Amino acid sequence: MSVKKVFSCCACLLFILSVKAQEIVPGEVWPDDKGIHVNAHGGGMLYVGGKYYWFGEYKSDTTSVALDGVTCYSSPDLVHWKNEGISLPVMPENSYSDIERGCILERPKVVFNKKTGKYVMWFHLELKGKGYAAARVGVAVSDKVTGPYRFVHSYRPCAGFWPENMPDKHRNLSETPDDFKEWWTPEWLAAVDNGLFVRRDRLGGQMSRDMTIFVDDDERAYHIYASEENLTLQIAELSADYQSHTGRYIRIFPGGHNEAPAIFKKDGTYYLITSGCTGWEPNAARLFSAPSIWGPWKQHPNPCRGTGAEKTFHSQGTFIFPVEGKKDVFIFMADRWRPKHPSDARYIWLPIQFENGLPVLKWMDKWNLKDL
Ligand code: GAL
Repeated sequence: MSVKKVFSCCACLLFILSVKAQEIVPGEVWPDDKGIHVNAHGGGMLYVGGKYYWFGEYKSDTTSVALDGVTCYSSPDLVHWKNEGISLPVMPENSYSDIERGCILERPKVVFNKKTGKYVMWFHLELKGKGYAAARVGVAVSDKVTGPYRFVHSYRPCAGFWPENMPDKHRNLSETPDDFKEWWTPEWLAAVDNGLFVRRDRLGGQMSRDMTIFVDDDERAYHIYASEENLTLQIAELSADYQSHTGRYIRIFPGGHNEAPAIFKKDGTYYLITSGCTGWEPNAARLFSAPSIWGPWKQHPNPCRGTGAEKTFHSQGTFIFPVEGKKDVFIFMADRWRPKHPSDARYIWLPIQFENGLPVLKWMDKWNLKDL
């Protein structure tokens, strides 16, 4: 082979490798800058100064409880990820901190508050040794995007407040969950619809498990969370510093059993993609839209298309973010959980496509940002 031919073959190979290196390959191992699979599960994304910052649960090889904390990775291109370390460390055992090692700390999301200049991390928190009973939300802050974040508090949101869309007649009902021997009967479902669990939890605060945070164009931020025993989603407004709730909130789809909320806004419409409640097992995604964060919210058919659509391509959503510098390009981030080997859970990221004016998700073996 001539020198010229060898040279052109090498150039060709280099070109193929560099194109390949820009590909996002859902479900595969995603090595970080040290060659280790990214460990940022149930995560969220924040774009700051030319880089994407991906925050997620650091999972160990054997358990899903938090032994380390929340990890942060950075990338200029969503393909090459630098491990920035633990941004919110859990506290030592027996420290009596809410975020003591061994607690359950899931679905962290970080937002930037322009007024205070602080990065604010929100997450689902379950106190150590109490299973999923605490159902709290936690807050931590940092002056630097990568952290370290300082734990501020954890609590159940909106204590003492009624949801704005809960009519007076339902606020005054006297039924309690103990009045129902069985769940899922028509009477029980009607009672859930009428705020059975909202009333039970009004004074102590509403339950808050799977969650996301959304900052709107006017800088107001919202907490969207699975509440009322995971039966009903609630959307609550955050305070101006994004570190607590104002007490203004609504319930959506009472008894709908939605979790894993992920939201984005396009052309003034809010789109919410959720999952059903089957733990680590995948199920079919659900799609909702609304002209305002406060509703009215409308349900649409499953946004997933093709093989695997009934199980969200064997994954569960966690976040949706806009790609910087591209108009109307949004990426749906999901986790393919591996509860027996949590650190080996995989990432299913798919670009959101639109069909008949509604978001759809289609499986792609691999894809390249430049093609969007
Ligand atoms: C899922 C939830 C996860 C985790 C898991 C525990 O439904 O989305 O974040 O809480 O249940 O079983």
